[in-house]
Amino acid sequence: MQWNNGCKTDEVWQRDIKNRALKEKAARKLALRLKDGEVVGAGSGSTSYLTLLALAARAEREGLSFRIIPTSIEIELTCSTLGIPTTELKVERPDWSFDGADEVDADNNIIKGRGGALLREKLVIAASPEVYIVIDKSKLVKRLGQNFPVPVEVHPDAVQLGCEALNKLPGVTDVVLRQAVAKDGPVITESGNLIFDVYFSIIAAGTEQKLKSIIGVVESGLFMGYPVTII
Ligand code: A5P
Repeated sequence: MQWNNGCKTDEVWQRDIKNRALKEKAARKLALRLKDGEVVGAGSGSTSYLTLLALAARAEREGLSFRIIPTSIEIELTCSTLGIPTTELKVERPDWSFDGADEVDADNNIIKGRGGALLREKLVIAASPEVYIVIDKSKLVKRLGQNFPVPVEVHPDAVQLGCEALNKLPGVTDVVLRQAVAKDGPVITESGNLIFDVYFSIIAAGTEQKLKSIIGVVESGLFMGYPVTII
């Protein structure tokens, strides 16, 4: 049975979405990829939200069914509003997945995680045989790190140790503990961790592995060398 109680639980993207028309165009293009009965991994953020709407619209028009593996509570709630059934990575593997990005360079290296969903996003991307990154052209960069820091999710007990180690990495210029907006104190992720926004003057090959090798780091929003298709 679906919830039908008038509660507004899906308002996150009711505000203005930057470059909405361009994102919608790319989303409609990707929605043509959907086949009946597929399990699709859904990233988070405004572009993923619009892509989910485009998939739902096409499925309704053409009588297709599909299930979503969501990467955040925000996307789970959107699925609930749209009546799209969800499943989990621990139960099923996605046939393919889609996601947005904060930055994409000429070699398809990516920064993600502005919205804090980087851990589940990376898990779904790593599990998917086909990954589509849906972007508008504002996300294309000459140098990775030029507009966005790299988010790094750390266990709360590693806040001091992790900060110290991150500051010692080559190319790091600043390490900032991400603060919440509608809560006092730091952002707490859906897995109960903290996020450092790590600013780099240069992101060299191997940086993703270096971040991951720090004790207490759970995951980073750096995706280097992943076989993705940019839409
Ligand atoms: C969510 O944590 C992020 O990885 C988003 O996918 C990324 O920030 C892109 O967001 P927009 O589509 O809102 O630009």
